[in-house]
Amino acid sequence: MEQAKVAIIGCGNLGISIANGLLGNAAYTGPELIATRRHLAPLEALRARGVQLSTDNREAAVYADVLLLGLKPYNVVSVARELVEVLDPKRHIAVSLATGITVADIQQAVGPDIPVFRAMPNTAADVRASMTCLSSTCTDPAKVQAVQQLFAAIGTTLMIDEELMGSATVLGACGIAYVLRFIRAMVQGGIEIGFDAESASLIVNQTVKGAVELLIERGRHPEEEIDKVTTPKGCTIVGLNTMEHHGFSSSLIRGLVASADKIGH
Ligand SMILES: NC(=O)c1ccc[n+]([C@@H]2O[C@H](COP(=O)([O-])OP(=O)(O)OC[C@H]3O[C@@H](n4cnc5c(N)ncnc54)[C@H](OP(=O)(O)O)[C@@H]3O)[C@@H](O)[C@H]2O)c1
Repeated sequence: MEQAKVAIIGCGNLGISIANGLLGNAAYTGPELIATRRHLAPLEALRARGVQLSTDNREAAVYADVLLLGLKPYNVVSVARELVEVLDPKRHIAVSLATGITVADIQQAVGPDIPVFRAMPNTAADVRASMTCLSSTCTDPAKVQAVQQLFAAIGTTLMIDEELMGSATVLGACGIAYVLRFIRAMVQGGIEIGFDAESASLIVNQTVKGAVELLIERGRHPEEEIDKVTTPKGCTIVGLNTMEHHGFSSSLIRGLVASADKIGH
């Protein structure tokens, strides 16, 4: 079967990450992708890898089968509406990446016959390690599979109820920033106790990766692994408890809930 063509309409930060991730798969050599935005200069690196570029969203929609709407929430609906005349229900699938815009909003813009999905990936799509939550009212298993396969090419996918999409934004998309801030803080601590920044980053990055791989590959619970490294009266438990006395878990949970409140989940 021929590879479905993908248009990234409004190809900004997230769109470029998705394009880079897809291009890391053998199935995507370049011409299967078309990317649009009004100012094309930031996309020249994609053009060099064979991706088609255009400032014309309709031209991109005609070229492609799956339309990833990577626009900001405030203009995703108006741009989707512009595409209506060229959309074909037998061929096209619309996938909105916009936070807070519902399937119903997009459906109203593109018409009742076009399958509509919401996807909430994160910027780790760039290295094919995105966590992408998906939701849709589409009941055609082939269309659902096509969208799942597309995002599986850039990481892990999970179908969820649409009412959880706001929470998915916080946990998965904002979550990248929380984790990176945690990593940065650990590196700063590492520098204070004697390492240069480069060595501290190497140690912290690999330590975080190792911790995550223990959970994913072995299916372990975090506390089970923590118990293994906390010797009674030892340095790890002293450090952990000091962090907790200063509100470590509480601060993280409160921040997460504040983000969710801001989204109005
Ligand atoms: N960043 C994340 O981690 C993340 C994660 C999940 C979901 N999201 C969602 O993804 C969407 C994009 O986020 P982002 O961070 O990638 O934003 P972004 O970098 O601003 O990308 C949006 C792009 O849309 C283009 N654009 C604006 N008007 C257009 C038009 N009429 N036609 C075609 N292109 C147009 C802009 O480029 P020009 O100015 O050149 O047109 C811009 O590059 C948002 O809705 C956000 O909620 C983001």
